[in-house]
Amino acid sequence: MSEHLYHKYVQHMTLEEKIAQLLQLAAPFYDEPGDDSEITGPLEELGIGSDTVRNAGSVLGVAGAEKVMAVQKKHLENSRLGIPLLFMADIVHGFKTIFPIPLAIGSSWNPELAEQSAAIAAREAAVSGLHVTFAPMLDLVRDPRWGRVMESTGEDPYLNSVFAKAFVEGFQGKNLTQDMSRVAACVKHFAAYGAAEGGRDYNTVDLSERQLREYYLPAYKAALDAGAEMVMTSFNVVDGIPATGNRKLLRGILRAEWGFDGVVISDWASIKEMVAHGAAEDDKEAALKAIWAGVDIDMMTVSYLNHLPELVEVGLVDEALIDEAVLRILQLKEKLGLFENPMRGADPALEKEIVFSAEHRRAARKLAEKSSVLLKNEGVLPLNIEQRVALIGPFADSGDILGWWSWTGSKEQVAKLSGAMRSLAGNAGLVTVAEGSGIHTITAVQKEAALKAAAAADVIVLAVGEASEMSGEGGSRTNIKLPDAQLELIRLMKGLGKPLAVVLFNGRPLDLHGVYDQADAVLEAWFPGSEGGAALADLLYGKVNPSGRLSVSFPDSVGQVPVYYNAFSTGRPKPQVEDGNRYISKYIDAPNEPLLPFGFGLSYTSFTYEGLTLSSGILKDDQPVEVKVKVINTGSLAGTETVQLYLRDRSGEVVRPVKELKAFKQVDLAPGESAEMIFAIEERQLRYHHSDLTVSSDPGWFDVYVGGNSRDVLAAEFRLI
Ligand code: BGC
Repeated sequence: MSEHLYHKYVQHMTLEEKIAQLLQLAAPFYDEPGDDSEITGPLEELGIGSDTVRNAGSVLGVAGAEKVMAVQKKHLENSRLGIPLLFMADIVHGFKTIFPIPLAIGSSWNPELAEQSAAIAAREAAVSGLHVTFAPMLDLVRDPRWGRVMESTGEDPYLNSVFAKAFVEGFQGKNLTQDMSRVAACVKHFAAYGAAEGGRDYNTVDLSERQLREYYLPAYKAALDAGAEMVMTSFNVVDGIPATGNRKLLRGILRAEWGFDGVVISDWASIKEMVAHGAAEDDKEAALKAIWAGVDIDMMTVSYLNHLPELVEVGLVDEALIDEAVLRILQLKEKLGLFENPMRGADPALEKEIVFSAEHRRAARKLAEKSSVLLKNEGVLPLNIEQRVALIGPFADSGDILGWWSWTGSKEQVAKLSGAMRSLAGNAGLVTVAEGSGIHTITAVQKEAALKAAAAADVIVLAVGEASEMSGEGGSRTNIKLPDAQLELIRLMKGLGKPLAVVLFNGRPLDLHGVYDQADAVLEAWFPGSEGGAALADLLYGKVNPSGRLSVSFPDSVGQVPVYYNAFSTGRPKPQVEDGNRYISKYIDAPNEPLLPFGFGLSYTSFTYEGLTLSSGILKDDQPVEVKVKVINTGSLAGTETVQLYLRDRSGEVVRPVKELKAFKQVDLAPGESAEMIFAIEERQLRYHHSDLTVSSDPGWFDVYVGGNSRDVLAAEFRLI
């Protein structure tokens, strides 16, 4: 802990001033018309006096250079010790220039572009006055019913860790103190929020500590290793104790074991929510448990403000705990250079120039191109520029393609699919657009217009999906199909017998019954962001060759959920060819396999793998095994392939997954071109958490799998001695 900050500030602060540092005020406090730098929000509702609030440490959700500067100025005029405010907000996949949702970014398998997207988000946010972003969200996800899968990069701990590092480096850059165009990253939601039972938001999480450590914690850890400055607790319980009051998780794993010295913030009202959880008798006990557990900032509620003074007075909380929390917050302020320059990157002129600039939008478009996944294609795509196209569906002409967490993004400024396809086709008359249905409703008039548009077309492109609020926080679903109205629209169009391509807009893996079986081609667009329509038009017309690969499995049906590729085998695995044995691990009404596996994605060209070889059949401690494989572009277009390497530890002290991603590489290949891809497998990649939670490898046999997805692979083997 930094002593100079203690001597300069903390030792001169009253207990009230210290506790006020731990308070975070949300935007409504600054929303009053007129002098909007004044704190005018629901103070009475919260039962607090404005003097206390004037000493608050941070603000959530206020942005815009002029506004932030005005609030900061007024704050400093009123602050006895001149301690500046920290401005924080959720800049999750872009500020004004909205990038594809994180689940889509996960499908790019491209950490460089992910880093660039975070750097641009940071640049726009910083110039608009923000200091901290509540991102990246690093919750591993296995349940598409959960609406927040859209905020994650997927189901794999290794891939998530690669993206964790990329996002943190993009947001923070190399030197937060000097580089005013970056913001501090707040890793969330610690921990295991993605494992909510039944996929219902905020629900119970119950994992063995081994599961937690082996699968759920690595991505958070990777972000902290990359230097992330903050951590947000999650809403859920971890082993029966809400994360926000969980000493073992926060003081044990996060601080003592991992050495994290940055700021921990509660999630929105999660201190107070310990009462509803049944983990605290009242708000006072909740505050006590949170400060004991190591939470520094109370987001949005006044549990700390109202109860810490008394808790210190009666001796239940040592004032040193409060000092520590204050120091961590001041340390972050210092690291961001706020004591020297409280306005930091806020710059109204530059804000006008760079926010939503053409350069930033080009980057968003590129990432949207790389994030879309071609799920099926039976000769329909790419479209021919001369074809008459009927573009039909609720997303044909919709601006609702930004996705959840794009609060500063504007749906009005989106590149829509209709406009982009029309301008690409050259002759605008070749593309006829009809809504076809709403998200949840279909009328006779809509059907008629859709039939009319389709009648004159050579090919039908259906743009269908979930409205953005059907995923995201509070967006859990039990039925993960497209809404009935849109399934009806698909059936109607299918009935015409014309080539049918579907473009999907959605924030989660869907049950694609009624879509995948009906369409000749399916392009997964996710929520592609500000430039989504332009990117999709390029993909549909083949100006860009699709290269995205799923970072989550698409279940065959919701009844299989959770279904993920890195699962364990049972003692009664299903044989390749079924032999009529009832007593094996299977469903009698559905396959075991997902419809589309992790890592899957097609291209307008094709890739063939051959000649998988290992440098040795034996791996010794310090001698990696080299893996080589030849990848050939066997189609007639240039394309990008993502070569994926998986391992299986055939037997362990505890059972090991049937496959685990250990490495991947992307390669661009011209038609007929081939490349030799080389990977090294080292002993450290074979380590795992044993039953006593120690991490080591076990000698024995390993399978190596290499391919273009987690299902279709070549195999080899080696032995660790
Ligand atoms: C969400 C967080 C978010 C916070 C602040 C909460 O409801 O769970 O992800 O950072 O609000 O907006």
